[in-house]
Amino acid sequence: MNTADSEIVMGVLGENGYTYTSDIADADVALLNTCSIREKAEEKIYHRLYALKFYKKKNPALVVGILGCMAERLRKELIEEKSLVDLVCGPDEYRKTPELIENALHGSRGIAVKLSRVETYDDIIPLRTEGIAAWISVMRGCDKFCTFCVVPFTRGRERSRTLASVVNEVHLLSQNGVKEITLLGQNVNSYSDEKYDFADLLAAVADVDASLRIRFTTSHPQDMSDKLIETIASRDNLCKYIHLPVQSGSDRILQKMNRTYSREHYLQLVEKIRRVNPGVAFSTDIIAGFCTETEADHAETLSLMREIRYDGAYMFKYSPREGTKSYEFGDDVPDDVKTRRLNEIIKIQQSISRELNDMLVGTTETVLVEGPSKKTKAEWFGRTDTNKVVIFNPAPADISDSVFDAPRIGEMRNVCIKNVTSATLFGELLPYN
Ligand code: 5AD
Ligand code: SF4
Repeated sequence: MNTADSEIVMGVLGENGYTYTSDIADADVALLNTCSIREKAEEKIYHRLYALKFYKKKNPALVVGILGCMAERLRKELIEEKSLVDLVCGPDEYRKTPELIENALHGSRGIAVKLSRVETYDDIIPLRTEGIAAWISVMRGCDKFCTFCVVPFTRGRERSRTLASVVNEVHLLSQNGVKEITLLGQNVNSYSDEKYDFADLLAAVADVDASLRIRFTTSHPQDMSDKLIETIASRDNLCKYIHLPVQSGSDRILQKMNRTYSREHYLQLVEKIRRVNPGVAFSTDIIAGFCTETEADHAETLSLMREIRYDGAYMFKYSPREGTKSYEFGDDVPDDVKTRRLNEIIKIQQSISRELNDMLVGTTETVLVEGPSKKTKAEWFGRTDTNKVVIFNPAPADISDSVFDAPRIGEMRNVCIKNVTSATLFGELLPYN
């Protein structure tokens, strides 16, 4: 989400004559896009800000700014008390970044942190870094108010772009050679532009170009309608991979989190999605050590993981956030208990991911080729429809390049899977059939 937001900010700045540099020593302006979801994310930003002080010493004219969720939460502290930054700009005020920078260049510190009920940056063309994959933010904000979560406060109320504007952007991206698009929203499946729902949007986007792979994240179980489940099944280019955060396997904790579903309801939902979309992969988010969580609650989370067998999971220790409802519940699970529970969750997930990947050895997977692997140029990588990373040799050792079709970035190729870990598949590229 923040990557997509940074591209929107670069789009706004690009229209105002700014260009992007990846080298901080070259920069006149340094903007940090921040996240408040857990304390660790905020700590990271403080470290980065202190690191930027070094550059500011060398170049006192350097403008340093904070964008995103921390802006709203910590504006006073950042600008007034700690004097760490020259500008602070919240997630709904990015149109003001040129003006704030201009003011800062003239020595005045500025803040813009109002949340909006309508801002979707519908008309802004994000400045994307080159590549075959692109993000499109289709809705902003969240109205779910899970008791642990700061997002409804930092990003405001839900609002959606029009279907027409999203489809238009997909057309442009497809013409520019993009091969994979991820539709983004904090709560993407509650998308609604008054006339159309998320299933309509997904179908319309998929129909722009059948060779484009379409993904979406993040879905809330409550908004996973039958229509949406059937739409995912209806088109081959809609990836059979769903990120469906469960958070906990205990009904008592789910209720305390205000997640609006029970364990049973979630299990039935997953079963329905699997029935309609055979072979679909699931990932999830899990929080360890939420307020009042007992060993019995924790055991329910472990048993749910064993029952569902997720392909992957993002797993976190509960981090109390000021302003949220659960902040008032107290943070009563000791940190060492949280850590132990988290480690148990991670261990189970790793072994399940490994077992699921083991079953793929010897099969042929269709991979969207992304390019040479980051570690060694002798290997390439891509992803399966189910979002698994595949590392492969660009050509088998016993076939000379002249007869073998070398891979090209952005094409779909078949790879025979030879080896796996819990996180990665390794295989050999097959010739075109
Ligand atoms: N503590 C720990 N994890 C959190 N998440 C959101 N808020 C918190 C918090 N206060 C996790 C949830 C969510 C993901 C994006 O971050 O699992 O799905
Ligand atoms: Fe936060 Fe997601 Fe819950 Fe919204 S649905 S409050 S973004 S955890």
